[in-house]
Amino acid sequence: MSNKPKNDTFLRALLRQPTEYTPVWMMRQAGRYLPEYNQTRGRAGDFLSLCKNPNLATEVTMQPLARFPLDAAILFSDILTIPDAMGLGLYFSTGEGPKFERPLRDEWEIRDLAVPDPNVHLRYVMDAVSQIRKTLNNEVPLIGFAGSPFTLACYMVEGGSSSDFALVKTMLYQRPELLHHILDINARAVTSYLNAQIEAGAQAVMIFDSWGGALSHAAYHEFSLPYMEQIVSGLIREHNGATIPNIIFTKGGGLWLESIAATGCNAVGLDWAIDIGQARARIGDKVALQGNLDPNVLFSNPDAIRAEVGKVLASYGKGSGHVFNLGHGISQFTKPENAGAMVEAVHELSKPYHA
Ligand code: CP3
Repeated sequence: MSNKPKNDTFLRALLRQPTEYTPVWMMRQAGRYLPEYNQTRGRAGDFLSLCKNPNLATEVTMQPLARFPLDAAILFSDILTIPDAMGLGLYFSTGEGPKFERPLRDEWEIRDLAVPDPNVHLRYVMDAVSQIRKTLNNEVPLIGFAGSPFTLACYMVEGGSSSDFALVKTMLYQRPELLHHILDINARAVTSYLNAQIEAGAQAVMIFDSWGGALSHAAYHEFSLPYMEQIVSGLIREHNGATIPNIIFTKGGGLWLESIAATGCNAVGLDWAIDIGQARARIGDKVALQGNLDPNVLFSNPDAIRAEVGKVLASYGKGSGHVFNLGHGISQFTKPENAGAMVEAVHELSKPYHA
């Protein structure tokens, strides 16, 4: 599995090497906006069974690539596989998002947490990674991923999605040492999980810090960022002769770009709130940038989408170091042809910026 992808534009952009155009992929590119995804999920029974079945996970990973000329594939899985492997009992009740049967409520449960062995307890993920690599046949690179320690802790403590993070923030202010204990376990779990994905064939890895932006400046720098830095410093950087770039994405992290870039990551993911040209002026000499079209632009029409894509490309400006993406996951209510219009616009309109 040492072969370089035929299209390695995405990997070169992450390493800020020259490219012919700006590469593009979409967060949640395999998902409910695609009728063929819904069909495969129906065959699996539910979302989690789909994640746990390497054949079907491979099938849905490939679906968006069959429709659009995307420059990367992303492993079909979820960030909550780690707490599930820790024994919290993940399930998805329809329409309500993720839930845990045994959220962390008592101190003894927290003290009992252990780092799962990814090649045992998350074997199904590693099997999916190697099967996807075989199926991709080195056409485009495969991205592996995990949640950030803090984002995982939000779900582990709250027991599911939350609008105010009342429980995890109560712990943060009242029992900070308990939260630090969870975060340390999570950071070690994520590091070994991502390294196992790299060994199984992932060619780049991304950390999703979806809820870091809910923290105060001080709390972000104490409870989210240092644990991502710990992960970045423990990641495998070279595998079978290839550099394995990593991406940190804190949704709502626009205020803290300099700190994120200082972790030693290769690229920083941006949500749609920040101007990508300003982000480049702040940290573009250290890292590549990934983003940052508002996913709701895809509710409009191909002409409007093209215009908005043009604005993001123009704001970033000339040269490499930009991976085009949405500023967050694609909505399940997006028309697939509008996603296609975005990909086409990125490829076409970006060429002059690389001339
Ligand atoms: O990008 C991709 O295509 C790869 C697959 C992927 C999924 N989840 C599939 C998924 C990735 C990278 C994730 C990450 C993830 N999961 C995050 C971080 C990114 C973000 O969105 O901020 C988070 C917070 C989760 C936890 C999670 N999983 C939630 C909150 C939900 C419900 C979301 C919703 O819109 O209802 C999920 C379920 C989920 N994960 C789906 C998919 C395709 C939809 C499940 C379904 O098919 O019913």
